[in-house]
Amino acid sequence: MSQHLKTKDDVFAAIDKHNVRFVRIWFTDILGVPKSFSINTSELEGAFDEGMGFDGSSIKGFARIDESDMVAKPDPTTFQLIPWRQQEKGVARMFCDILQPDGKPYEGDPRYVLKKNLARLNEKGYTFYVGPELEFFYFKNDQGTEILDKGGYFDLTTLDAASDLRRDTILTLDAMGVDVEYSHHEVAPSQHEIDLRYKDALTMADQCMTYKIVVKEVATQHGYHATFMPKPIYGQNGSGMHVHQSLFKGSKNMMFDASDSYHLSEEGKQYIAGLLKHAPEITAVCNQWVNSYKRLVPGYEAPVYICWARRNRSTLVRVPMYKPGKENATRVEFRSPDPAANPYLCFSVLLAAGLAGINNKYDLPTPIEKDVYHMSDAERDKLGIYSLPGSLVEAIHLAENSKLLREALGDHVFENFMASKRIEWDNYRMNVSEWEIKNYLPLL
Ligand SMILES: Nc1ncnc2c1ncn2[C@@H]1O[C@H](COP(=O)(O)OP(=O)(O)O)[C@@H](O)[C@H]1O
Ligand SMILES: [Mg+2]
Repeated sequence: MSQHLKTKDDVFAAIDKHNVRFVRIWFTDILGVPKSFSINTSELEGAFDEGMGFDGSSIKGFARIDESDMVAKPDPTTFQLIPWRQQEKGVARMFCDILQPDGKPYEGDPRYVLKKNLARLNEKGYTFYVGPELEFFYFKNDQGTEILDKGGYFDLTTLDAASDLRRDTILTLDAMGVDVEYSHHEVAPSQHEIDLRYKDALTMADQCMTYKIVVKEVATQHGYHATFMPKPIYGQNGSGMHVHQSLFKGSKNMMFDASDSYHLSEEGKQYIAGLLKHAPEITAVCNQWVNSYKRLVPGYEAPVYICWARRNRSTLVRVPMYKPGKENATRVEFRSPDPAANPYLCFSVLLAAGLAGINNKYDLPTPIEKDVYHMSDAERDKLGIYSLPGSLVEAIHLAENSKLLREALGDHVFENFMASKRIEWDNYRMNVSEWEIKNYLPLL
């Protein structure tokens, strides 16, 4: 049964009640790779007061060897039992904030980066809500892309071999306090989606990490491998992470305006305009791997062209149709991110782009309700429709000159992230791929 705790005293009470012996401290490196170390419950009092020291120099993008002392301070509101580790003595987990030995927040901590960006919103008294749709594949193992089924979109029965896997995954997510709305087979064979109910951005970033860890854990328990690799199979749809977003003031959705023809407020429109204008420079964070760009190609539902619409799913930004009485569901869907992004950084840069639109009162271009994929280049040019970066190196070049990105990430994460991506691109660029061998060796 999931916990909804607030204070450290709540945590101590739950530890007694569930006979918990170990607490796993969860956090991520700058690329969103989950990291964890386990502490004894007897150490928890100290961990809550001063934090737990650890060597940050081995964490990607964290500290150099000469400034490696880091402190992990657990966040009691994230306490949950780990369902697959409940034996005689229980095991629980808490996300933590990374601090410097002097207690100041650590600039390199992705969770702190998101908190900083959310603090900018609080000045306006707004709350940023996020609903991401993470898609993933199940394969026989992590050595290849042997599929479990030949199912397609919303397929059922034998064509959906993984429905037991999805069921167990949803039950485990439920037990860890992650609200699931629904789940289904996706377009590609062996591809699935489990939809989460939207939450405030920090809670949702934590839940995205829990989601990825649980999906992989349950797949392993069933003897399979789950992956959030953006494009594992050439010629099939890739895995995306559409990010639905809205801004509320208290219980009022600030993106909604009943009198507007799109039912969008001025701020809602400016937020979309900010996403469109800054999409090229934030793409390196939303699509951070070389493989991410094998998905962002025409013909597979993944967006390539920078424009918006309401019904049209070929555009980068979509505003789902307004349903009377459903004002609170007014939202903006940004469709290019993939589930291999670091959710803390991805939500930070999306918010920064949207807020730039509001703060600078950007004008919203006309929506494109036609299928953008089937337009000619000339037609797109005439409509001022540009493309997202077509490769990681293009995205790096756009990102490294971005003032908005440097401000959103902070100098430490910005520099380390860019350095890590340049190395990744170089390694890829120097690699002689199977495709080259197959196409060039017989010919040249
Ligand atoms: N006001 C809102 N702000 C942010 N996300 C929202 C809001 N209302 C609904 N959502 C979320 O939007 C997502 C919609 O997902 P889904 O129905 O799969 O969309 P799609 O039509 O793109 O397939 C869900 O995660 C839902 O919780
Ligand atoms: Mg969607």
